[in-house]
Amino acid sequence: MSHMGTETKDFRQEVLIGREEIRERVAGLAKEISADYKGKKPLFVGILKGSFIFLADLIREIDPGIGPQVDFMEISSYGAGKESSGQPKINKDLSIPIGGRDVIIVEDIVDTGYSFKALLAILGSRRPASLKTCALLSKPGRREVEVPIDYLGFTIKDEWVEGYGLDTDQDYRGLPDVVCRKEIG
Ligand code: PRP
Repeated sequence: MSHMGTETKDFRQEVLIGREEIRERVAGLAKEISADYKGKKPLFVGILKGSFIFLADLIREIDPGIGPQVDFMEISSYGAGKESSGQPKINKDLSIPIGGRDVIIVEDIVDTGYSFKALLAILGSRRPASLKTCALLSKPGRREVEVPIDYLGFTIKDEWVEGYGLDTDQDYRGLPDVVCRKEIG
């Protein structure tokens, strides 16, 4: 997330999902994915930048026997304004062709749903053998378009979160826990 839409105030960070809880859930997701993709050599597509830590942890828990591969992509689904442009811009495209591949799109968080919607359309048009979605976090209270999340870590309330890859104005991505920000005063 690029901004909070509020002026800077004093705040404290409370752990919402701690590192151990994240570790256990990521291992659980990886086990599920490893079972579903036996013999398929899936390609994990991490959406930059927020997914980089989640994907790094997820891929290390995937059964090496299924031969997982990784690539990255970055899009902006919002133009200058806040409305979805409907014509998402690809800032960084994949370097691996996905025709005939079993692809899993990996996001840190699903908020309005516009990013997944755009990615499913863009990558779906390239004729992968299958296309699924995986997200660490989902905020259903913020959804504007319905999108399938095939593998989901945690459902959370509509409150501002940062850490474990998620940012506020590019800061706090390196925090090992998902924290929520509480304004003081
Ligand atoms: C965040 C997040 C998703 C998207 C989800 O990315 O990583 O890609 O927003 O929101 P949506 O469901 O409303 O589309 P952001 O644009 O903040 O970029 P970042 O990953 O580089 O932080």
